[in-house]
Formats: sequence, C-alpha cells, structure tokens
Amino acid sequence: MIKLHLSPKNTKAHSQAILFTSDAPDYKALSLSKEELALVNSQRKAKRPFIQLFRNGLYLYLQYIENKPTKSLLWEAARLAGNTLVAELKSQNCTDIIIAVDAKDSALLLAYAEGMVLGSYQFLKYRKDAPAHPLKNIYLLDPVLKQKDVDDLQTITEANWIARDLVNEPVSYLTAEKLSAEIRKLSKSAGFKLEVFNKLKIKTLKMGGLLGVNQGSIDPPTFNILEWKPKNAKNKKPIILVGKGVTYDTGGLTLKPTPGSMDSMKCDMAGAAAVSGILYAVSKMNLPIYIIGLIPATDNRPGGNALAPGDIITMYDGTTVEVLNSDAEGRLILGDALAYAKKYKPQLVFDFATLTGAAARAIGTYGTVFMGTADTETKSAMLESGNDTYERLVEFPMWNEYGELLKSDIADMKNVSAGPAGGAITAGKFLEHFTDYPWLHFDIAGPAFLSSPDAYRGKNATGVGIRLIVDFLKKQSLKK
Ligand code: BES
Ligand code: ZN
Ligand code: ZN
Repeated sequence: MIKLHLSPKNTKAHSQAILFTSDAPDYKALSLSKEELALVNSQRKAKRPFIQLFRNGLYLYLQYIENKPTKSLLWEAARLAGNTLVAELKSQNCTDIIIAVDAKDSALLLAYAEGMVLGSYQFLKYRKDAPAHPLKNIYLLDPVLKQKDVDDLQTITEANWIARDLVNEPVSYLTAEKLSAEIRKLSKSAGFKLEVFNKLKIKTLKMGGLLGVNQGSIDPPTFNILEWKPKNAKNKKPIILVGKGVTYDTGGLTLKPTPGSMDSMKCDMAGAAAVSGILYAVSKMNLPIYIIGLIPATDNRPGGNALAPGDIITMYDGTTVEVLNSDAEGRLILGDALAYAKKYKPQLVFDFATLTGAAARAIGTYGTVFMGTADTETKSAMLESGNDTYERLVEFPMWNEYGELLKSDIADMKNVSAGPAGGAITAGKFLEHFTDYPWLHFDIAGPAFLSSPDAYRGKNATGVGIRLIVDFLKKQSLKK
C-alpha cells in the first residue's frame, strides 16, 4: 500500500509534481530557466497530459486542469490527472513524490493524491511476471492540510484496495467461509465487531432465502454481522449496510445462458466487499456513527439439491416466494438480511448489490442506480456525495405498478416478473417487501466490475460504494 504523508519541510529529496488550475500559472517559486519556460509553454500549448522537467537529478512534473463549473468536477479532473501521472511514475520507477496544487485548496490536493493511489492498484497475487507499482510514498505539500485528513484518505483508499482484492479473488479461493475469515481479519485490524452465523445457526433462524440459494452448493453459507458502535455515536438507532455476498453466480439451475455471461460472476459479492470496506474505513477513521453491516454469503450453483424453478421457499420473515428463476438469487439472500435488519429498529438501511443486468444496461458503468423509501433529505445528501466522490447516482422510481408484476398465484410473491421490462426496479420492489424502515437500494451491477480499464477505477474490481458511503457518513457525523 502506498503511504500518504504531510510533506516534510525539506522538499528537495524527491521528485515533485504540481497541479495547476490557473489559466496564468505562477512559476515564480520554481525559478525556471528561460529554456525551461519556453519548453513548458510550448508543451502546454500542445496540451500534453504532463510536462516533465529534469532538475538536479530529479523529475519535476507539471500538470494542468481547466477550471470547472463545480467543485466536484474539478476534484474529478484532479483524480484523473493523478492517475495519468502514476502511469508515468511507474515507467520511471519512481518511489517517492511530493505533490502540490497551485490553488489554495486542500480538497483538490487530496483528490490529486486519491487519483494517484487508486490508479496504482494492481491485483498481483496470482502473477509471477508482473512487477509491483514502484510508488511507495506520496508527500502532500500544503500549509493548511491536517494530518487527520491525510490519514482519512489513507484509510479510504486502503479500504478501496481491500474491497478490490476481495472482488478480484476467484471463488476457488473466496468461498463464503473464506469471505467470513477475511472479514474477521479486517475486524481485528480496524476494530469493529464481527459475529458469523454458520449453516446450523442460519437453519435455526429459518433464513429460507439464503438456505435456498445455497441448496445447490457444496460449500456452506455464512451470515455475517459487522458492528461499529462508538461511545460518542451521533445516532442512537443504527445505520445498517446490507451487502450481497454471492461468491459466485452461475445462475443455478436457471444456468446463465451464454458462457461469457458467467466469466465475471466472481464479482457477485461486490456489495459484500463494499460493506466490509465501509466498516473497515469507518472504524479505522473512528467516525462517531453507529453502523451495522449484514452480509449473507453463499455461491449460487446448480448442483445437488439446487432450487428448481417453481419451488416455493419460505423467507426469514415468513413470506413465501415462488422461485421461477434461480438466477434472481441476490434478492432472495438480501430479502432475509433486510428482514433481519428490522430487529435493530434502524434509523436507515442501505443495501449494495450487483443485482441486475438491467441496471447495468440502463446506465452502463458510469454510475449506480439507486432507489428506495428514505426521505428526500437523505436522498439529496446521497446524490451530493455521489457527485463529490464521482461515484455518481441516478434514482429510479418505485411505482407500485412494478410491484404488481411480482404477484404469484401460488405464493405470496414470485422472485421475477414475466418479462424483462423495468428489471432493476422489479428487483428493488422485491427487496422493498422486506423493509419497514427508511431504506435505499444501490444496484452496483454496472460499475462494480469493469471489462476494460477506466482511468483510476482500473480494470476488473473497482471497489465502488465505499468512497460514496464513507463521504456520506462523514458528512452526517459533522452535522449537529
Ligand atoms: N448477479 C446477477 C446480476 C449481474 C449482471 C451482476 C451483470 C453483474 C453483472 C444477478 O444475480 C442476476 O443474474 N440477475 C438476473 C435477474 C433476472 C433473472 C431477473 C439478470 O440480471 O439477468
Ligand atoms: Zn443471478
Ligand atoms: Zn447474482
């Protein structure tokens, strides 16, 4: 993991990068020679992504971003610039760099650093040939920046890397029990509490959704309860975060139709990874917010006694569900977890799930579809966090007509509607049935796992959801 530091006074020892936002950059402090200035001006005209100067055996990088209509767009431009730079630092084998921005804007400098750290993520566990990214230390040069802000960014980016590692792990390693063991490690290092229910306990509790999905599997399910309850918490009733932990989704007996459509289905626990990362970050940052994570985990396979289309299962809350498509399994395990959440009388519940291809088709990978019953104040705060972190959100409606599509004539509900129309919303309506509290559902099927690289989000797992929710919770904790 790259270490972030407040810059030491001595700025001579390392390469440096400066991000300029002004149309008329002030180069005074750099005391550029005539030749250097001419080079800078000509390269800037050519709109190079960065300009590289070599001085006293060290590199000095200059980058430029144009002014933007909003702060959040400017921060995103800084992240992108940071990402461009770390690709160059890799080829230069640079281990230490001091960074600064010309504007008196600590948030902008943090965003620049964030783009650098997120952009250097690599998943190398199974590779013998690829060298690790050389960058070890980033020094943030800013007279007013606080150590705590640097530490928080360190923790958030670390949580993002942890989640990406979990999602990139194949099911050959990351079974439900392994996932619980990984969460155990996180709970110990960050200081949140963890309770893991095994299959016997899950049977005793009659979590029929989780057990049903697990029926075709050799590996047992787990149900994980993560808790961060600081003494100085601002909220009495917890905020609950539910994460879909399908360690692999074959579709079950309703097997995924084309071979390619299964290739990335190790990503189906990205919601669980996000929730684990959020608990990790919030507890490590010591945020005065009481939160609970609920993670139902299993793989979804067609073996043994797998759920057969037409089966009727009884969920944790007693609801009977006609399972007509075993590939709509996420809602079954989430339904149990959402019903379980009721016992905490939560202030607010969020769930994160790679739930539907429909959400991904509707808006692609550039944002997350969300919907739910939380009040408009919560929703607009969430939208703001979406823009500020650039984990953008778009709200879908929850009109009752979509719920009508889930009526069954043989059980309380069926798990899919007859056709594909509004698939992300019918999934959301299914989940809503199991809630009786203010709630938001985040369908991250689009942005969770990328088949081609997208700047600092990289390729494969992105760790989406953590930066969004930690930003939201941090802002909540600052409210009186
Ligand atoms: N895990 C999938 C959704 C998914 C698709 C995640 C693409 C990531 C990328 C989910 O369990 C699923 O299979 N959903 C079905 C629902 C359908 C049967 C109603 C889908 O989207 O096709
Ligand atoms: Zn599925
Ligand atoms: Zn799934």
